[in-house]
Amino acid sequence: STPIPEPELKLGFTPVAKNLNDVVTVPTGYDVAVLYALGDALNTTTPAWANDGSETAESYEFRAGDHHDGMSFFGLGNDGKWSPNTSDKGMLCLNHENITSAFLHTAAPSTVDGKRPINEALKEINCHGVSVVAITRQTSGSFAVDKTNTLNRRITPNTVMEFHGAAAGSRFLVTKYDAKAKKGRGTLNNCANGYTPWGTYLTCEENWAGYFKRPSTDNSLRTSADVASLTRYGVSSSTGANAWSTASDTDDRFTRWNATVLDAAKTADTDFRNEPNTFGWVVEIDPFNTSNAPRKRTALGRFAHEGCEIAPVKVGKPVVFYMGDDSRGEYVYKFVSAKMWDAADATAGLTAGDTYMNEGKLYVAKFNADGTGKWLELSYGVNGLLPDNAIYPFTSQAAVVVNARLAADSVGATKMDRPEWTAVHPKTGEVYLTLTNNSNRGSSYPVDAANPRNYTDEDGKKAKGNPNGHIIRWKEKDGEHSAVSFTWDVYVFAAEEDADKSKINVSNLTSGNDMSSPDGLWFDSRGILWIQTDDGAYTDITNCMMLAAVTGKVGDGGKTTIDTQDTFKGKNPTEENLRRFLVGPVQCEITGVTMTPDNKAIFVNIQHPGEDGNLTSISSNWPDVANPTVVNSNKTARPRSATIVIYRKDGKEIAV
Ligand code: FEO
Ligand code: CA
Ligand code: CA
Ligand code: CA
Repeated sequence: STPIPEPELKLGFTPVAKNLNDVVTVPTGYDVAVLYALGDALNTTTPAWANDGSETAESYEFRAGDHHDGMSFFGLGNDGKWSPNTSDKGMLCLNHENITSAFLHTAAPSTVDGKRPINEALKEINCHGVSVVAITRQTSGSFAVDKTNTLNRRITPNTVMEFHGAAAGSRFLVTKYDAKAKKGRGTLNNCANGYTPWGTYLTCEENWAGYFKRPSTDNSLRTSADVASLTRYGVSSSTGANAWSTASDTDDRFTRWNATVLDAAKTADTDFRNEPNTFGWVVEIDPFNTSNAPRKRTALGRFAHEGCEIAPVKVGKPVVFYMGDDSRGEYVYKFVSAKMWDAADATAGLTAGDTYMNEGKLYVAKFNADGTGKWLELSYGVNGLLPDNAIYPFTSQAAVVVNARLAADSVGATKMDRPEWTAVHPKTGEVYLTLTNNSNRGSSYPVDAANPRNYTDEDGKKAKGNPNGHIIRWKEKDGEHSAVSFTWDVYVFAAEEDADKSKINVSNLTSGNDMSSPDGLWFDSRGILWIQTDDGAYTDITNCMMLAAVTGKVGDGGKTTIDTQDTFKGKNPTEENLRRFLVGPVQCEITGVTMTPDNKAIFVNIQHPGEDGNLTSISSNWPDVANPTVVNSNKTARPRSATIVIYRKDGKEIAV
């Protein structure tokens, strides 16, 4: 008999209007609840958030941190193990990327006699990292945190981590903490995420460089290769973010944020000169086993990792990981495992990570003007990655992965407009990548085919370069994710609806789907693409947002040039297949999205509402926890980053 074809995927909600309200706005027919906000306890003994900064630093080892970001839902079986198809109970893993320190303490953050008070510095540190928290579906369709679950835990910049892969045990990771270079402390600035086919969570370390103190006087104490590396990664702050290194210390919890060579006559195991090398990795966490230390997967390279998306696995084929490096003019990478996928590893947890993430080949992308592209291999001894390389003396694969940016410079990869999240379409296998914006495109970075927009002073806003960003996509040769060549086009150029359609709003976006600075990007299992924004260019008109899309394929609607409308036809984005699902509260970013396997609940993170304010001038009071879709009447409420859950009043699937 002929198989019944799958019904065509169609969006089925009314687009949400742009707005500047201090609420979460969702389509008619949907309910919203706050699930897990800054300071919320994840056990039964930690007191509730008090809205006065009285929470202790130590208590944040059992509370939600700040700046919720990338996130994955893992179904939880009654046996406490991963149950991929379970929707009513799950472990939610989410990142706490950064802090709005103005709202964490009883008063403004302070410095006393040139030092940060220990309790303030430790609280700020503990508000970074990851939460692993059990959640349970309620009869309404909403979810609630299960504070009694013993799998609940916080991972912070002080949690012990193991190094695995090419850089583990190398001289680059030797610190006073571990002369063997096999262990380090903490994960930091955790941005986007990954969900492995073996039931673990990947958290990605993005803007870690600025946390370290390393004044320019340190250069004279270093080898030229070390200076080249630290300079390329931007480790050059004279104080370090939040000046944590100034807090008085007995166990190096704070002094380790000082990456200066303290005594040139001594070796790297006497200070924390190499501590910056211990960050910038993809980190693997087992949500179902609290006794295993998280594992830093160094074979995947060190950069400002945005996220790590794994292509759907196939038995007998390598496992492939896509990764953006979010900074202006940085690159997009992929890692191809040496071992072929064996379905028996689907329950192996971190052991499977050891199998597929420690050995393999790292590649960086080059986009050609004719719509083709190449993956350039970053292996020691290949493509000139040798000790005599003019950019950096590569002496081993450890040197290559620690200095992945320098290796990518050396092989001539394409400098992109800030690569953020990658997402793989679950049915077509095509890969999408947000390029959030680049004010320096057209100046420090000449335009190229994949990063073609450079405009100035649109509507008198003094916008320069590519202020609104775009989403590029590619199809690997023969549909094989391990291929070394691909074809690409641009899925959409973000823009304001009334911008010039010949050079700015070239995708003809309209009021129901215009956007700026796409960042978060994720395909749900049905193939709906979720796009989240982190914008500075459109915030005079609207708060940040999330859109849903049903996309086509490379070549059927996208384009590789912006100057001819006629190549941009067919299934180009219209409100029928791309529309706004959510607008967030004042000064927030929308980032982090996951769903239950039954597609009936969607979890979204609201990051840093009210981030431009402080205790004497609060600019957002979101959320009113009882109803995050109404303006909070408590005008002394501190704004809080939070995970929200959205579900339909009629109990049906989201967005269709
Ligand atoms: Fe943490 Fe590039 O966003
Ligand atoms: Ca981001
Ligand atoms: Ca961003
Ligand atoms: Ca942010």
